[in-house]
Amino acid sequence: MKILIVYGTTEGQTRKIATWTETRLRERGHQVEILNSAALDPDLKLDGFEAIIVAASIHQKHHQDAVVNFAFAHHDLLNAKPSAFISVSLSAALEDGRAEAQEYVDSFISVTGWQPRATLLLGGALRYTEYDYFQEQVVKFIVMKRNDPAISERDHDFTNWDALGDFVDRFLEMAA
Ligand SMILES: Cc1cc2nc3c(=O)[nH]c(=O)nc-3n(C[C@H](O)[C@H](O)[C@H](O)COP(=O)(O)O)c2cc1C
Repeated sequence: MKILIVYGTTEGQTRKIATWTETRLRERGHQVEILNSAALDPDLKLDGFEAIIVAASIHQKHHQDAVVNFAFAHHDLLNAKPSAFISVSLSAALEDGRAEAQEYVDSFISVTGWQPRATLLLGGALRYTEYDYFQEQVVKFIVMKRNDPAISERDHDFTNWDALGDFVDRFLEMAA
């Protein structure tokens, strides 16, 4: 299959997730094009792709605008093809955060009109050592609010790579 991956990232974890997904798809024998939503060609045509995976991360409860705009602009075509959405957030990694992570996705779907056939809520990463003052304050606020022992103020990768692998394989079966 010819598969398109479009991703949105702010600090880089979703790029890592998108390239990991690209490798997985290539290992399974598929042709893959991977595009950063921040640098999309406005004349991008989706017709040539048989399946599409979109990945975006959450900042202050919202996915990247570039991904929202992409999904809104192409929702008819996305709805007509096998498509999957991977939503990356801190909430998705926390036991009591899953409902909130799902709300981010529900809001994305209602704004864009794209109803992905498969959705994955995936934990992201915290990188205190790379945040500027503003980012650090926002993240500390989220972490403080949660009061969850799993999220101390240290760099941490919460992404469940096994769950991502299973999701990609199931999506391929469904799309075939
Ligand atoms: C400034 C900032 C705001 C964030 N806001 C939220 C949020 O509202 N909800 C949440 O679950 N995670 C939030 N996160 C966690 C990010 O979703 C997580 O760090 C993710 O890995 C970022 O992905 P990226 O590196 O691809 O941008 C926030 C992170 C930062 C740095």
